[in-house]
Amino acid sequence: MAAAAQFPRCRLLLGVEINPVYAAAAGRNPEVQVEQGDFFSMDWPRVLDRDPGPWLILGNPPWVTNAELGVLGSGNLPAKSNFQGHRGLDAVTGKANFDLSEWMLLQHLSWLEERSGWIAMLVKTSVARKTLRHAWKRQMPTGRAAIFRIDALRSFGASVDACFLVLPVNLGETSRDCDIYPDLSAPAPAGVTGFHDDMLVADVDGYRRFRGLIGHNADYIWRSGVKHDCARIMELSGSVEQGFTNGKGERLHLEEACLYPMLKSSDVARGRIRSDRRMIVTQRRVGADTSLLRITAPKTWAYLVSQAALMDKRSSVIYKNKPRFSIFGVGDYTFAPWKVAISGFYKNPRFVKIGPIDGKPVVFDDTVYFLPCRSEEEADFILLLVQSEPYRRIIEAMSFPDEKRPITAELLKRVSLQQVAERLGLTSEYCRFRDHVETEPRNLELIF
Ligand SMILES: C[S@@+](CC[C@H](N)C(=O)[O-])C[C@H]1O[C@@H](n2cnc3c(N)ncnc32)[C@H](O)[C@@H]1O
Repeated sequence: MAAAAQFPRCRLLLGVEINPVYAAAAGRNPEVQVEQGDFFSMDWPRVLDRDPGPWLILGNPPWVTNAELGVLGSGNLPAKSNFQGHRGLDAVTGKANFDLSEWMLLQHLSWLEERSGWIAMLVKTSVARKTLRHAWKRQMPTGRAAIFRIDALRSFGASVDACFLVLPVNLGETSRDCDIYPDLSAPAPAGVTGFHDDMLVADVDGYRRFRGLIGHNADYIWRSGVKHDCARIMELSGSVEQGFTNGKGERLHLEEACLYPMLKSSDVARGRIRSDRRMIVTQRRVGADTSLLRITAPKTWAYLVSQAALMDKRSSVIYKNKPRFSIFGVGDYTFAPWKVAISGFYKNPRFVKIGPIDGKPVVFDDTVYFLPCRSEEEADFILLLVQSEPYRRIIEAMSFPDEKRPITAELLKRVSLQQVAERLGLTSEYCRFRDHVETEPRNLELIF
């Protein structure tokens, strides 16, 4: 009804609503044709062929994920076969868990690719961003977009980060930028988000200013912590002398061989560098034979066998056809004595220097990213680079603090530490450490 009043020159006003009571109420307005129907089973080409457009696709789609609907036992989902056959959607979501509105927005985009018009939708900000990334990555004919932030808690009682997304398609010049307005009545955008160098960039102006720091990192490679998908068994608290307790509360005694001091993402975010937690590290590189643990660490082997019901049940495909009790995200770098680390989870990026605990290298869970260093001196130098103003500014320009994981290895890998060193006038120091890295003989032979 609001749209009918706002756009009096519209040739055709169509509404679709699944709930028959709502559809009937909205349909009382004679200017509007409201159909009761399911978005996912509508014959949309037939609907859209009724008018050449341009179309304004306006709406407030449901803010739920398929997983939440599954819990509710709802049938409100795209047809399974259809959905799974849609590789484009897979590429966007990458996961079995996706927002219904995201699926709807991708459909809207595909309608307008063949036609023209605007998408104007109230959606979670994360969904708006994913939709834009999808369109920009595929070089769809979209114009300059706008995101108006809204206070979803005040307006809808929903505590999510939400916005009004406006996206023109096949209308005028194409663009890979989106103006960000702080609220619906803001007279001017407060910033611009865009797609540059094949990447979604939070603050395009800041990115342009520090873009010289983008480059290949050949010398220092960001790594992530160990992945084992079984914290209850693999992560222990206690000590060799006193005994350990696993995540099930069971007491046990294990030898030192496979135990490494461990810091979790939350420890790293808080700047904690001590820990009484231990991780069982069964391999020194991905795919290594684990059966020798029977001899080198018999208590640990016996413990893992006793927990095989959980360990062998790890569902991720990465464990299929791999040695028993395999882990991932492990290599020489895991055993580097010094590390400069950051948690992927927190809004304010904080880098920490971490050295050995009780003479052993510290390991992390897989939501921590780190650069391995051979000495404390090298770790100090790397810390100086990543804590520098230019580094902070480029990371800020690239990352979205409201994302669940604002910092990722992909993002960190884009910034060249050599360029940062150069900007800080520290190239010769950089080369000294780098050359040390290259010439140092490898002494991290397999011990198992
Ligand atoms: C967030 S509410 C918005 C309602 C109304 N359009 C507004 O803006 O106030 C989302 C609406 O989408 C409807 N809906 C949910 N799934 C749907 C589907 N598969 N097809 C059509 N409508 C659906 C819900 O019944 C609900 O009324």
